[in-house]
Amino acid sequence: MNKFVTFEGMEGVGKSSVIQYIDEKLKEKNIKAVVTREPGGTKLADKLRDLVLRSDEELILPETELLLLLAARKQHIEHFIRPHLQKGYLVISDRFFDATYAYQCGGRGLPTSVLEKLNALLGLNFYPDFTFLLDAPINTCLSRLKNREKSDRFDTEDLEFFRNVKSSYLNRANDDPKRIVKINCDEDFEVVCKTVLNKLIQKIAQ
Ligand SMILES: Nc1ncnc2c1ncn2[C@@H]1O[C@H](COP(=O)(O)OP(=O)(O)OP(=O)(O)O)[C@@H](O)[C@H]1O
Ligand SMILES: [Mg+2]
Repeated sequence: MNKFVTFEGMEGVGKSSVIQYIDEKLKEKNIKAVVTREPGGTKLADKLRDLVLRSDEELILPETELLLLLAARKQHIEHFIRPHLQKGYLVISDRFFDATYAYQCGGRGLPTSVLEKLNALLGLNFYPDFTFLLDAPINTCLSRLKNREKSDRFDTEDLEFFRNVKSSYLNRANDDPKRIVKINCDEDFEVVCKTVLNKLIQKIAQ
């Protein structure tokens, strides 16, 4: 199978829930798949995840945040994603590099040229075969987060931050419609899951 599929979208839009559903359906179909997430996916990358999401010891500068995320991604690509693809797995990642454009460039305001240069210099232009951009109104996403016990450094950002994140994601989807499939998630959960599953099955058959 060895395809690399990523899920993107704002917090609360439903990425992890949809991925869990998809993973179960793929197992029923005996498709060899593995699920991972960013930041994270290896021991060191998970430690970096903790630093990025939870640290409240001092202000984390946008540049520092970016470098920690890219360090984690390098580990993830070389120690998890690539080896699994080589073993024939369908690799599904809950967020990947589109999130860095959306959050660190769109949300935090870092220039995309900086990220593009770092990606090129560090061998991080590792393109997913396809990407599902889960999309719903910001208020819908935020209200879905209300039942959550713990929030992280991103969940608590202001509305302008989320507007910028969302529009960066949508711009990327417009610029790369062959790779990025936008899914309306302002729908019943079952409907969303079935739409994603059908598209995924279509794509992996291509
Ligand atoms: N289509 C939907 N309709 C109603 N509720 C939903 C829908 N999709 C997901 N949810 C609920 O919204 C909440 C957030 O979903 P989930 O944790 O999957 O979001 P996420 O995109 O992974 O967020 P994060 O980026 O913060 O990890 C969960 O309680 C989930 O059950
Ligand atoms: Mg999640």
